[in-house]
Amino acid sequence: MKIKSLFVFLLCCFAVFLTDAQSITRMGSTDASCFDADWLFNRYGLQADGTTKAEPENLQATGLNDETWQKLNLPHDWAITGPFRIELAGETGKLPYKAIGWYRKHFIMPKVDRGKQIYLDFDGAMAYAKIWLNGHYVGTWPYGYSSFRMDLTPYLNFGGSNVLAVCLNTEKWDSRWYSGGGIYRHVWMVKTAPVHVAHWGTYITTPTVRDSAASVKLRVTVDNKTNKSVEAVVKTTIFEINKDDVIGTKVVSFEPSKIRLAQNGNIETTQLATILNPKRWDIVSPNRYLAQTTILVNGKIIDTYNTPFGVRTLEFTARKGFYLNGRRVKIQGTCNHHDLGALGAAFNKTALRRQLSLLKEMGCNALRTSHNPPAPELLELADKMGFLLMDEAFDCWKTGKRKSDYNLLYDEWHEKDLKAMILRDRNNPCVFMWSIGNEVRDQRVPGITKELADYVRSIDPTRPVTNGYNHPDEAREAGAPVSMDVIGINYFFGLQAKWDVDPRYMHIPQIGTETSSCVTSRGEYFLDDNGKENQYVNYQISSYDIAHPEWGCNPDTQFATNVVLPHFLGEFVWTGFDYLGEPTPYNSDETILLNFSADSAKQKEQQKKLDEFKKNPVPSRSSYFGIIDLAGFPKDRYYLYQSQWRPDFPMVHILPHWNWSERVGKITPVHVYTSGDEAELFINNKSMGRRKKNEGITFRMEWDSVRYEPGTVKVIAYKQGKQWATDEVKTTGEPTKLMLSADRNVIKNDDSDLSYITVAVKDKDGLTVPRSHPEISFEVEGAGEIVATDNGDATNFVPFQSHTRQAFNGLALVILKAKKGASGNIIVRAKSNGLTNGSIILMAK
Ligand code: GAL
Repeated sequence: MKIKSLFVFLLCCFAVFLTDAQSITRMGSTDASCFDADWLFNRYGLQADGTTKAEPENLQATGLNDETWQKLNLPHDWAITGPFRIELAGETGKLPYKAIGWYRKHFIMPKVDRGKQIYLDFDGAMAYAKIWLNGHYVGTWPYGYSSFRMDLTPYLNFGGSNVLAVCLNTEKWDSRWYSGGGIYRHVWMVKTAPVHVAHWGTYITTPTVRDSAASVKLRVTVDNKTNKSVEAVVKTTIFEINKDDVIGTKVVSFEPSKIRLAQNGNIETTQLATILNPKRWDIVSPNRYLAQTTILVNGKIIDTYNTPFGVRTLEFTARKGFYLNGRRVKIQGTCNHHDLGALGAAFNKTALRRQLSLLKEMGCNALRTSHNPPAPELLELADKMGFLLMDEAFDCWKTGKRKSDYNLLYDEWHEKDLKAMILRDRNNPCVFMWSIGNEVRDQRVPGITKELADYVRSIDPTRPVTNGYNHPDEAREAGAPVSMDVIGINYFFGLQAKWDVDPRYMHIPQIGTETSSCVTSRGEYFLDDNGKENQYVNYQISSYDIAHPEWGCNPDTQFATNVVLPHFLGEFVWTGFDYLGEPTPYNSDETILLNFSADSAKQKEQQKKLDEFKKNPVPSRSSYFGIIDLAGFPKDRYYLYQSQWRPDFPMVHILPHWNWSERVGKITPVHVYTSGDEAELFINNKSMGRRKKNEGITFRMEWDSVRYEPGTVKVIAYKQGKQWATDEVKTTGEPTKLMLSADRNVIKNDDSDLSYITVAVKDKDGLTVPRSHPEISFEVEGAGEIVATDNGDATNFVPFQSHTRQAFNGLALVILKAKKGASGNIIVRAKSNGLTNGSIILMAK
């Protein structure tokens, strides 16, 4: 190859590597290419409109005529296009995710690859995946949240065409939240030499970590897929890598190991090295390293395998909390489901990065992958952005919460699924705990608990194992949590004092695996004539951040609980983001009974509510639990958490809005969230008094007898007597115009990069008008296209793909991507009757 063309070739490789779907530091053999493009899809069984279409036989056949099948690229969620159907249960998100989905892909396998091992790595396929190549059955993986590998080698036609067929079935998959359906995460084709590092075949630990040096222990498993015994050398070098995956300074090389592999055998070899003056991975400085392992046969490199990792210490104590790198860190975490709002379950790294940025800004430092293994990119982003991560495997064990839950898979699959999660994720420094379950019904059974915990520890003994208990009292009475390294408690803290002195448990650290469950709708406030809050109106929930289901509490109560339980590791709030499904308290499925399984009177009461919902279907299709709404717009609560979680960040926030023409003269409570300790409120420059926070007891400041008059509400917050932050809310004029702003003005044209455009309804002075709900239509000119629109309203049934969207309390969202390969300007225009149009220009590159 000439120098110039080599340069162009390298540049192309680099460009390919830098698409958002890929990362050079994805763990694994380096010859991995994204296999997302050009699939064919057909839906059988239950259709989107509720009718049924018979599934023909032999859809895996090579010669099948699939010309009429839908063409698409992965990741794909077949249910997110809806339509929303009111008669579907709340847990479905009112989206028709149940179906039998068939995917086919035709591809040429180059002749030069003959002799290599060819694998397909599925990051996740929902659910009950079965895979065929050229008509031959290759394998299955039922649990839709697990990542898995299929070996295509035996059935490939090298130098010719091949047909891959994947059948998924969500008719067999019940879920308490919207699972989506389809090959909803990335698929990779991995090519290796017959002798190569095994799938997830490296395991890096750092047995001793000091400021001056860290010892690094690397275990490498090497597979030999030949019929001959082979001698090979394993070499590993550690490099620094930055947050953009650029490989930097070489740090150290391990002593190479010579191995002899039996025919069709494998071997594990252990290597040791020392990193001098290690740069720690931490939530405030997420430094990472890359271990690059090469396999050499006859002196020639035949396989290169990347393992990103980090150096940090974790210490969990029962009496003094959690320590990261020797520093006490309170877990300020959020639980999150896997859907990405209007994109559904279809994975998108830019969308996830946006979610994590919003959480980080709030002061969130930890994530719980409720209640299943996440997309691998979540681990990558958590590593890069500095989040701790509690990796959770299951929502049920042997006893299901639904008829066709994981209970049907448990016996045959639980070890395989646990292993898949831990082998994939155990090198990621963000992972600080393994969770074997959430509120599983077998939580009182010591035997299963111990078996699972021991199994996890047998694969990775370096992190504690926990379980989220919603019957912590009974489980402890039964003795189940003795095999936990950390006891996870969902909501029930009332008996804590008793357990804190129980000799059986007092040595085990504890954490609030799930807390609060406050429910609100962004920008909605319902008050009666006397200023008393009506919490639930018209399938929305008032936003004073007080409402919660019976098992939960408001954030303030949880903060106070955290103060009296200082030895706790911290909390994971339910939830960071609103999610599809589970629209409690308007949930029309059995989920609302689950939390009362020990209380028959409450169960009866809930059953009555449920029967009522079944008679009169509810329009709610997504949750109200989020601190941030489904569109990614922060609710008031965001600032309450920020005030606690970022005490050194000067901020103050006022609620509610101040557009109450119907309330002139009526009591209209004003609440203020601040990281300061004192605040003075002014209505039209008149002081309403200066209030002090009662440290550790109250977490908001309330002016509950303010009478509404239009104008300006202003707050000045103080900290230790000095002015700290100010906020102002004004009565606005009528809506006059639309204004657009984007989180990213330049986007890549790689079919996956996104820009999130906020559309605000403004008055003549540029103030966002609360309680405004105009219908807005969007047009795009140039190199971009609309992927979805949303507004955060949990009762909106307009499909997410619509180019028309009503604003919800002054805001709407457009999710935009660049047309694949196109470059240049993208002009987005927003129009609404009677309002001046808004527009924004972005750039595709
Ligand atoms: C918990 C459960 C979560 C969610 C939450 C709602 O009991 O673990 O998955 O259902 O309740 O408050």
